[in-house]
Amino acid sequence: NKGNYEHYMQKEIHEQPESLTTTMRGRLIRGGTCKAKTVLLGGLKDHLKTIRRSRRIVFIGCGTSYNAALAARPILEELSGIPVTMEIASDLLDRQGPIYREDTAVFVSQSGETADTLHALEYALQNGALCVGITNTVGSVIARKTHCGVHINAGAEIGVASTKAYTSQIVVMAMLALAIGGDAISNQARREAIIDCLFDLPNKVREVLKLDQEMKDLAKLLIAEQSLLMFGRGYNYATALEGSLKVKEVALMHSEGILAGEMKHGPLALVDESLPIVVIATHDACFSKQQSVIQQLHARKGRLIVMCSRGDAAAVSLGGACSRVIEVPQVEDCLQPVVNIVPLQLLAYHLTVLRGYNVDQPRNLAKSVTTE
Ligand code: UD1
Ligand code: F6R
Repeated sequence: NKGNYEHYMQKEIHEQPESLTTTMRGRLIRGGTCKAKTVLLGGLKDHLKTIRRSRRIVFIGCGTSYNAALAARPILEELSGIPVTMEIASDLLDRQGPIYREDTAVFVSQSGETADTLHALEYALQNGALCVGITNTVGSVIARKTHCGVHINAGAEIGVASTKAYTSQIVVMAMLALAIGGDAISNQARREAIIDCLFDLPNKVREVLKLDQEMKDLAKLLIAEQSLLMFGRGYNYATALEGSLKVKEVALMHSEGILAGEMKHGPLALVDESLPIVVIATHDACFSKQQSVIQQLHARKGRLIVMCSRGDAAAVSLGGACSRVIEVPQVEDCLQPVVNIVPLQLLAYHLTVLRGYNVDQPRNLAKSVTTE
């Protein structure tokens, strides 16, 4: 049921304030006078000790689910102090990469049925790792075969392009980081700031959804382009990868997410006055580095579309040199990817409709990829 929306993808983008609320329901504890703010993940509480003792945490997934894990990686490293590595499921299997008994392997899958991820799970089980699932589908094979896990409770996702599952996955993995981090005094203030921010996150997503018309206007500008680059770094490297995956898979436009720190190691050669480039430069510890990336792209006459935190427009637009500035509300750095992906989802959606392609069932793709 699409309700008042024309497409499932559109509906699922716009229902993110509600899906995020459901994801967090019953799992955040605000704390009374003597109780600290904390998170409670029912499916993990008996396993947290084992996870904290593991030598490494390995995130495993495909596509959007992999990108969500990448967005959550920095906060998990920060709060747990455990090395976190990333594996695309098919690549782990191709290499038969090492997985040990002392590892916690976290399998991220919206459908819980993806063949590559499932086979990687079977491989990790054989190798004796603790296997944790982050899934949206109760009763799915990955939910059943993992030792424990968390349901993201985002509600059924019908559009082939994953949108609301992505934001709910990031929120669950941020909560996972809080749960593993436990109650160490050293990062109590940081933890409480993140929990406060989680409570308010649905409101921030509601605010950023108001950019709908602005993104439609931007899509009109880009409708006939061959290609679109997206530069991000730090917490928002994942935003660049996921934004470009959306554009590619539904709008059928070539798009590449690029780690801004790699710019000078190749991608800079592509920059000219015609190729549009999205730069994600919201306010965090990497901001000044991103400002310098903007300057260098501008010096090569790049056609820049800059996403920045509200109030930073002047600091990123180089006196009107950028063709567009997208201002978004600022949240805790580790949750900023949840806010920042929304305008890019809207952009991909409008580009697709304007270009006349099928939004909910993109050419050649299936919702659940049950073959390798
Ligand atoms: C559970 C109930 C929820 C209820 C809540 C009340 C279910 C599915 N969930 O939610 O309806 O409101 O208690 O306290 O009945 N699991 C995996 N792999 C996965 C995902 C989950 O093994 O990929 C396991 C978990 O370890 C857990 C169970 O499935 O044992 C349910 O997980 P989850 O729904 O996340 O737990 P709660 O949030 O506690
Ligand atoms: C992109 C998309 C795919 C899936 C991938 C993994 O919008 O939907 O990239 O994310 O096929 O699917 P799940 O999460 O079901 O394992």
